[in-house]
Amino acid sequence: MKSKFLLMLTGLAATLIVTAQTNIIHSDNDGKSWNIMTRSAVYHLNITSQGDVKMVYFGNKSQMEKFENGLGDEIPVRGGYVSAIPMIEVVFPDGVRDIELEYKSSEITSIDGYPALKIVQRDKHYPLEISSFIRALPEYDMIEKWVEVVNTGKKGSIKIENLLSGSVFLPKDVYELTHYSGVWGHEFTPHTTKLTQGTKTIQVKDFKSHGSSSFMVRPEGENDPYAGKVWFGSLKYSGNWRIDFEKFFNGNIQIVGGMNFWDQEVNLKPQQTLTTPRMLFGYTEFGAEGVTMSLASYIREKLLPATHRDRLRPVLYNSWYATTFSVNEEHQLALAKAAKEIGVEMFVIDDGWFKGRVNDNAGLGDWTVDKNKFPNGLKPMIDKINEMGLDFGIWIEPEMVNPNSDLYRAHPDWVFHFPNRRRHEGRNQLILNLAREDVYQYLYRCFHDLLKENNIRFIKWDMNKVMTDPGFMSAPADEQRAVRIQYVENLYRLIETLRKEFPEVWFENCSSGGGRIDLAMMSRFDFNWVSDNTDPVERIFIQDSYLTLFPANTMISWVTQEDWHRQNPSLEYKFDVCMAGVLGVGYDITKWDDGQKKIASEKIAQYKKIREIVQKGDVYRIVSPYEENRSVLQYVDKNKRNAVVFTYNMAEYPANQIRETQQTPLMKLRGLLPDVRYRIEGMNENYSGRYLMDVGIAIPLRGAYKSNIFVIHTD
Ligand code: DGJ
Repeated sequence: MKSKFLLMLTGLAATLIVTAQTNIIHSDNDGKSWNIMTRSAVYHLNITSQGDVKMVYFGNKSQMEKFENGLGDEIPVRGGYVSAIPMIEVVFPDGVRDIELEYKSSEITSIDGYPALKIVQRDKHYPLEISSFIRALPEYDMIEKWVEVVNTGKKGSIKIENLLSGSVFLPKDVYELTHYSGVWGHEFTPHTTKLTQGTKTIQVKDFKSHGSSSFMVRPEGENDPYAGKVWFGSLKYSGNWRIDFEKFFNGNIQIVGGMNFWDQEVNLKPQQTLTTPRMLFGYTEFGAEGVTMSLASYIREKLLPATHRDRLRPVLYNSWYATTFSVNEEHQLALAKAAKEIGVEMFVIDDGWFKGRVNDNAGLGDWTVDKNKFPNGLKPMIDKINEMGLDFGIWIEPEMVNPNSDLYRAHPDWVFHFPNRRRHEGRNQLILNLAREDVYQYLYRCFHDLLKENNIRFIKWDMNKVMTDPGFMSAPADEQRAVRIQYVENLYRLIETLRKEFPEVWFENCSSGGGRIDLAMMSRFDFNWVSDNTDPVERIFIQDSYLTLFPANTMISWVTQEDWHRQNPSLEYKFDVCMAGVLGVGYDITKWDDGQKKIASEKIAQYKKIREIVQKGDVYRIVSPYEENRSVLQYVDKNKRNAVVFTYNMAEYPANQIRETQQTPLMKLRGLLPDVRYRIEGMNENYSGRYLMDVGIAIPLRGAYKSNIFVIHTD
């Protein structure tokens, strides 16, 4: 029997198509060593004469000849000499805590269309078997690693105190790490730090990060954005995670990550399996731009939910900034009418529509319509919105409950809590224990009914409280500390089940802005609410970082009245910022005058003309706002014949007075065809791609908080 806690690869064997993938993964030396090739890199591992599986090298193919000895164990364990950070730490039933692995078998196979190497190792004495998987994604310069652990015994549980997804060792060098952490309103702030002897950990312990598990490691001082070696990675997991960057005294680096086992353990019963989330590791020779091309293209082309992956994203209206909780049919219809007039395609009602939800003190958990606000229910309103020619979407926050709700009054035991301990509220709410099957079934029923009974085409799925008080006292004692794993598994199950039953619905991932954006969510949601910070200047920074890691068709941005810098930026500027992703509007547009409506209509019409390039193109960050008081983003379509360039000023740049700190007097474009001539809409001359890329053209912007959009086509 497999544990209900487990992230199982049930039926994995059935999906493994045994085909030789010799060009990408091949084994030498009588099956005792393997090379896994991506476009830029080779990952090499071998089995020593003692039967140990060693990772030898990960990096540039031409340099591999110098590396003969293993840098470290493919699966570092707790046991023996204390050296690398262990990927697995267990306690056997008799109290022994050390592991000694030996090689058992291996196979080259195919998993979901990509070649994979599976290596099975087992403990020399105890019934513990570990299969490690390395799946190659060659065109994205990445490999994907994960492990599966089985208790092959007949009696006694093996206590797993730590089980990570993957580890790699980098060749000796001095390295810098760049990672993206944040806080509400300041998501994805980039940080670069030198890796010195010791461990640098990035992690999440409360389910909300406002940052990312994505990282880059580069040799110190190499900061050419377009060239140079970069090792990078990201974890596909939405619960607690942890990635360690350990520098040893000899100069080697280990990068190891996976689920965070802080306050977590799994007791693996006989014949049970625990499978980790998958972790991506990549290597590119094209600097940070190479990382963007790998990660963003992979997400856009392979990871996003298949039903909507290739569809153009609609122009959205969202009512939150216009109404907060004060929603009613009359005003929503007035907003929808105004939205339709300016060209919006999807109208989304945000928080406030359900029973008792007058403010953030009440209502979460009671997912029926508030009859005081919508006496006729939602259906007549949705019908009218549909008749206007708009699709309809709705906000939900499934995982939460207000103590002031019918649900909590009926089931106070459904929230996470410890007896004799305070229940820590955040925004007046508590977290439902989604590890419980009854909670799962309740939520499934609520949202199944909501989608079944109403013509809803868009769900905004929010999550506004950090994980606290993870008590699940009614569960068997040996399962209580695995509760977070089961929670995340049921979260994925709920989303996947609803998506399967309602395949036409778009799903937006939100967690007080970008609090839960990761590659596992990317595989289940079509896009993300990146930040509650909708001030356009702030947004330029957040979007620049976000677009380093993720594709533009996952980045929803609304034009709102927010003006944190008190610079009164123009409506055009706000639109230009939001057009860099999936455009939305969040103002109370019933109050707009004709001038504002005209600007909005023109901008939305312009967006519709360029959105195919924006949403499906490759993004090049030409000028970073973190380096200058302006930002330039360029989008190029797949055939490199059409491009869009967004330019934003945050300061005035007087003509002919370029200071040395303003490094980019000309913008040099990227990703074009050198020998093809391009025309820039609104300009008379045409230019060769080579000229635009090597010489560049002036950034034709005057004045602080001014912006422009250039549309470029081949002649
Ligand atoms: C937090 C989200 O980030 C906002 O966009 C909005 O949906 C509110 N929650 C609603 O409560």
